[in-house]
Amino acid sequence: MLSRKLSSNSHGQDSSYFLGWEEYTKNPFHAIDNPNGIIQMGLAENQLSVDQIKGWLKRRNLTGCEPGVSDFKELASFQDYHGLPAFKSALAAFMGKIRDGRVTFDEEKIVLTAGATSANEILMFCLADPGDAFLLPTPYYPGFDRDLKWRTGVEIIPIHTSSSNNFRITTSSLEQAFRHAQTLGMTVKGVLITNPSNPLGTTITRSEFNQLIRFVDSKNIHLISDEIYAGTVFNNSPDGFISVAEALHCGNHSLSQRIHLVYSLSKDMGMPGFRVGLIYSNNPSLVSAATKMSSFGLVSAQTQYLLANMLSDESFVHSYIEENRKRIRERKQLMVSRLHEVGIPCLESNAGLFCWVDMRGLLDESGPSFGGEKRLWTRLIHEVGLNVCAGSSCHCSEPGWFRICFANMDEWAMEVAMDRIKSFADSIRGQEQAAGTVLGQRFILLLLLSFIFVDDLGRTLSSQVKS
Ligand SMILES: Cc1ncc(COP(=O)(O)O)c(C=O)c1O
Repeated sequence: MLSRKLSSNSHGQDSSYFLGWEEYTKNPFHAIDNPNGIIQMGLAENQLSVDQIKGWLKRRNLTGCEPGVSDFKELASFQDYHGLPAFKSALAAFMGKIRDGRVTFDEEKIVLTAGATSANEILMFCLADPGDAFLLPTPYYPGFDRDLKWRTGVEIIPIHTSSSNNFRITTSSLEQAFRHAQTLGMTVKGVLITNPSNPLGTTITRSEFNQLIRFVDSKNIHLISDEIYAGTVFNNSPDGFISVAEALHCGNHSLSQRIHLVYSLSKDMGMPGFRVGLIYSNNPSLVSAATKMSSFGLVSAQTQYLLANMLSDESFVHSYIEENRKRIRERKQLMVSRLHEVGIPCLESNAGLFCWVDMRGLLDESGPSFGGEKRLWTRLIHEVGLNVCAGSSCHCSEPGWFRICFANMDEWAMEVAMDRIKSFADSIRGQEQAAGTVLGQRFILLLLLSFIFVDDLGRTLSSQVKS
């Protein structure tokens, strides 16, 4: 009855990322009404600074950000897919501020989209044909299977990274992915990275950045940088976060036409419900094509109007960015230290709304395997009451890693979650110790028995010799 696209499984709906979400909605944690419910730690949402936004709305008493009678008709009938100029200009300035003024943005090169989800899909439609490939470093955001592949028919080829170098991209891993796509008969159209990385919470280093630029230049392909977490970087040094926007001014015209940036207000402003995203590109044909495509997912005029007002309030934006970063850093430190206390390490990170957590030590006795990771994930959700994101749903090459989000809950829920992990880790270690003790006891018993046996045998033999 339905189309072939709908019956294909390239959406990724059956990954633990989406399944965990479903489980959570059936039994959500509430400190008073449902204290044994599931705590949602699988969703990279930023609720740490909602009070700041509410404060701004309150101070404005909603005047100046809600259309008044005089503006109503204009906004209600606005359907220009180029967006409200005041909003695009406020967004361009905001993107520069989020990057501490190290790069500037031109509002003419912005295409507004319904979130980064739509921005990424539009880029696929504009840059690739069905069956073409984009290379993505693993582990990657589980939603990309849906956003990049599902409706476009584009294929994702993984650039495998490993814990041995903290999941950094290398030239050889890039080359290997490129060759792999070629052997599958695919045309490689580009590389897509998330910087800061979802799920790693790290930013690319200068050396990775240079390697990537050299690679896409030499292969004559595109580079997309999804910088949706730009404002979550909390180590504020110039090399703490290198935006791909830097390369737009590299002086190499052909290359700068093939570099595109994706952004959204879903994470930095904690507004996924507003569906505000964008594509930023130096390439006029791409900007024009993407603008046409954006008519399938526009941002409402009312949202643009409200946010144009908010983002052009410079003193609010300045204090919001600083305070938001501080709160993210503190919350991350809280989680890392609580996990550290129970012997669960996290990858060192400097951004994001999550940590990349090494739970290999909690895998069952069958050793590291994706089956073991799935069993651990199932126990975490059903026995411990925590929905976290298993590494396999991010296409991680090594089993036992999990993405745990920390910014979508209050501190109380966070403490409950950490207590639950502690009891779980303690119980596993207790069982291991008990198993170790039983094993040890069995070993001693066997040893004693063998002494008795040898002793008996000796006596029997000597009596036989005597007789
Ligand atoms: C890397 C990345 N890109 C895109 C998205 C989708 O964001 P949006 O809500 O703006 O569509 C997410 C959401 O988690 C994400 O992590």
